[in-house]
Amino acid sequence: MQVEILENAQQVGEYAADRILRGVASGKITTLGVATGSSPLSIYESLESKWIPQLIDLHVFALDEYVGLQPEHPSSYHAVIQREVTDRLKLKPANVCVPQGNGPDLAAACARFEAAIAAAGGVDLQILGIGRNGHIGFNEPTSSFSSRTRVKTLTPATRADNSRFFEKDEQVPTRCITQGLGTIMESKEILLVAHGASKAKAIALAVEGPVSGMCPASVLQFHARTTLVIDREAARNLTLLDYYDSINAG
Ligand code: F6R
Repeated sequence: MQVEILENAQQVGEYAADRILRGVASGKITTLGVATGSSPLSIYESLESKWIPQLIDLHVFALDEYVGLQPEHPSSYHAVIQREVTDRLKLKPANVCVPQGNGPDLAAACARFEAAIAAAGGVDLQILGIGRNGHIGFNEPTSSFSSRTRVKTLTPATRADNSRFFEKDEQVPTRCITQGLGTIMESKEILLVAHGASKAKAIALAVEGPVSGMCPASVLQFHARTTLVIDREAARNLTLLDYYDSINAG
């Protein structure tokens, strides 16, 4: 794994956005996997401010969606992706695919989502955040490394972390549809972004810990083209900090 350590969230966003824009401009990135939550917001802001016309034709796949929320609900990931990604980057709505978490047949929605990724030729670059418990997408600890898009139950810790996006704690859904770890691992390239001390433990386990279902992000150690773009606070538990700094300085 490549580890880029920057000073703050804004720098993290700009670094990731520049990398994405280079790929889009050269035609290497035509499908982008997007995350929700706070971590990638600085990427979307930076992409908006450095907008290039080639972004219009980008195909976008979300990582996950809550089960049971209408797409119009402001905290649904349909709504978040529309606000933060589709509108800001002037994408074509028909090219934006989010799992359908409110339909009668969730298994069929998961299968449709996997088929849509396959039909687009796979995800060229996947943006990831990381949960404090090491989840990526909503693959909570003990998720199977070969899992595909499926329904998962959120841990109490994740529901508590995400309660800030809802008026009342009890409104946070208990289940979601998430890309599986196997699905995410098929992305051609991965950029995981994180900032803040609350992510330091998960980052250290993901990069330097044993590969373990207890830290789902540690599976990325098996991915050939993964870059972590993190700030100093998120990096502070890394044992080989001086090594990563020396690589990036050289
Ligand atoms: C979001 C997602 C999650 C978040 C993670 C971190 O689509 O899949 O894995 O990336 O929970 O969330 P933030 O960035 O809000 O700390």
